[in-house]
Amino acid sequence: MSAFLEVKNLTVSFPTEDGLVQASNDISFSVDRGETLAVVGESGSGKSVTSLAIMGLHNRQTTNINGSAVLNLESGPIDVISAPEEQVRRLRGKAMSMIFQDPMSALHPYYSIGDQLSEAWRLYNKGDKKAGFKRATEMLELVGIPDASKRVKEFPHQFSGGMRQRVMIAMALINNPALLIADEPTTALDVTVQSQILQLLKDMQKEFNMAVILITHDLGVVAEVADRVNVMYAGKIVEQGVADGIYYKPDHPYTIGLLNSIPRVDQLEGKRLIAIPGQPPSLINLPQGCSFRKRCTFADQVADNLCATIAPSLDMKENAHFSRCHLTEKQLVAARGGK
Ligand SMILES: Nc1ncnc2c1ncn2[C@@H]1O[C@H](COP(=O)(O)OP(=O)(O)OP(=O)(O)O)[C@@H](O)[C@H]1O
Ligand code: SF4
Ligand SMILES: [Mg+2]
Repeated sequence: MSAFLEVKNLTVSFPTEDGLVQASNDISFSVDRGETLAVVGESGSGKSVTSLAIMGLHNRQTTNINGSAVLNLESGPIDVISAPEEQVRRLRGKAMSMIFQDPMSALHPYYSIGDQLSEAWRLYNKGDKKAGFKRATEMLELVGIPDASKRVKEFPHQFSGGMRQRVMIAMALINNPALLIADEPTTALDVTVQSQILQLLKDMQKEFNMAVILITHDLGVVAEVADRVNVMYAGKIVEQGVADGIYYKPDHPYTIGLLNSIPRVDQLEGKRLIAIPGQPPSLINLPQGCSFRKRCTFADQVADNLCATIAPSLDMKENAHFSRCHLTEKQLVAARGGK
């Protein structure tokens, strides 16, 4: 059986005055209903660009998009990359939905929360404004907004950051989508609210049996909620596998670096946190060889200067765990500190 979403060789690039920006490069993965895939990587690694392509939200006139992103709907498969724009528009908010990185930009300041939720519901359901407000109130209750029947009449600026994020989740879920993409849904929030929102997303996933793609900078979030993980670097997936495998036995020096830069409960007290030095390369003229080479402390261990000359492919290491690196298994064990 096919997974609900199957992305194959998705490539997104933007022609600009300075050259072609290769933002998302040969991305393949799948997510099924009931499953959470986390996408991690530094700023600019292509996480949002990839998601917007799946949602059909890039301007097709100014963006080069290749590959496929197939939604396996009950009515049959649809490739959102090649389907007519009108057909993709009808899938958005219904078959697939997205929580955007900046919640304020997705909510209109002049309309009440109820108006906006009700409009989103009425796009796909027969019912008057009153029925829309009833549904909006139910959704606000479901996402844990106290006093929902009163607050449904209020405006976005009357909600705190955490409450606004709950409204965004209500809006994304109001038509019961099969796929939810949540782009950094907790970044702007303080730590206690972050974990409440993550718990809410977990609960909602169960309630609606959704396929969830959760984009985050935070590997702590990954450990808490993800089944599988894509680690992205400079527009490519550099490591892909089940969350525990990535977390406890990473196969790529970039992932090892990310894990060394966060506090972990499973590590010895007093271990120093080390940030990865340097910056990702420009996406316009990607260097020959491995994109991570300039920042990689293991590149000199690879024979024949391979890291500088040949771009590693995404190869399976073990148990459906893939990594894009020339290091041998023995070298990797040493890089992980013997694990
Ligand atoms: N319309 C565009 N034209 C040109 N370049 C773009 C365009 N949209 C995105 N980019 C570039 O594509 C790259 C990937 O951007 P993207 O927004 O996917 O990063 P991200 O991984 O989501 O980062 P962040 O964690 O900061 O949200 C960036 O270098 C960005 O500047
Ligand atoms: S291919 Fe070379 S430079 Fe790239 S991550 Fe592996 S060891 Fe480092
Ligand atoms: Mg982004």
